[in-house]
Amino acid sequence: MIDDLKQTFLDELESIGNPADLFQLRVKYLGKKGIITSQLKSLSSLPSGERPFFGKKVNEAKDFIEDQLDAKEARLKNEELKKQLLAESIDITLPGKYTPFGREHPINKTLLEVVDIFVKMGFSVEEGPEVELDYYNFEALNFPKDHPARDMQDTFFVSDDVVLRTHTSPVQVRGMKKRKPPVRFIAPGKVYRCDADITHTPMFHQVEGLMVDKGVTFSNLKGILETFLHQMFGPNTPVRFRPSFFPFTEPSAEVDIGCILCSGAGCRVCKGSGWLEILGAGMVNPAVFEHVGYDTEEYSGFAFGMGIERITMLKYAIDDIRLFFENDIRFLRQF
Ligand code: PHE
Repeated sequence: MIDDLKQTFLDELESIGNPADLFQLRVKYLGKKGIITSQLKSLSSLPSGERPFFGKKVNEAKDFIEDQLDAKEARLKNEELKKQLLAESIDITLPGKYTPFGREHPINKTLLEVVDIFVKMGFSVEEGPEVELDYYNFEALNFPKDHPARDMQDTFFVSDDVVLRTHTSPVQVRGMKKRKPPVRFIAPGKVYRCDADITHTPMFHQVEGLMVDKGVTFSNLKGILETFLHQMFGPNTPVRFRPSFFPFTEPSAEVDIGCILCSGAGCRVCKGSGWLEILGAGMVNPAVFEHVGYDTEEYSGFAFGMGIERITMLKYAIDDIRLFFENDIRFLRQF
């Protein structure tokens, strides 16, 4: 009878697959009202001669069941742990999760580089509108009425006296009108010209610079621009100033650097000259000071302006400006 009980227990134990059911089974046999417990209690109703034999049997069964339950419990715990470890394991051979990264557009990258260099030299950053009055874009900058830049061929006209700014120079005028000298700022931004080929797009970027104070000279201009160009293109880059003309600066200069592709030997990019034109500059024309109400006897200043697309093309040896605006990810990823 006790042997039957053991067998029944073993069959039940066999079918159990989790700790909760195992606990129920333990209660069923060993609990206060469990099968074994009540067997032990029933011993007292047996004739005294049968008690020792029967009692031994029941206690044996009790020990057996306890051992079986403990062993099974350990096995179940072990299995559970194994399962957990497997589920939580890290397969280091799996390919990593791909996180797409954005990055700076090459034009913005160059623009911020330029801004950074001038900010470190004490220039603040000024902004002006892209849709601009003829007055700021031309008139106050001393462009005569019949200047070719005012032709429809080069300038996008919005109306008779409103244009898309053709350069960042109008910000010189707006910036000076806003404050009294000394002034020292740069003005980065988009400009527009009716032009399109491998070196021109209808929209491009410039950075303007202006410094006005008592006693500002052309050598200050040379010093600032040389410092800038050496930081931008390397400390050994040759720099040269050539006489030029802009209505709003006098004297005016165009600034070249030694060709960074052929180191001055002459190549296709520098058209054999060994030099690359990088920016326009000059001393602020007193006619411009008249427009903003600065005393031309007391103050002098210099201004400069550069094209960011051109600088970027030279820096990275890019031969077609349109690449910047086609948004081909294979191109943009390289910067
Ligand atoms: N605004 C001129 C241009 O677009 C550049 C320039 C700026 C020249 C400031 C002199 C001084 O070509």
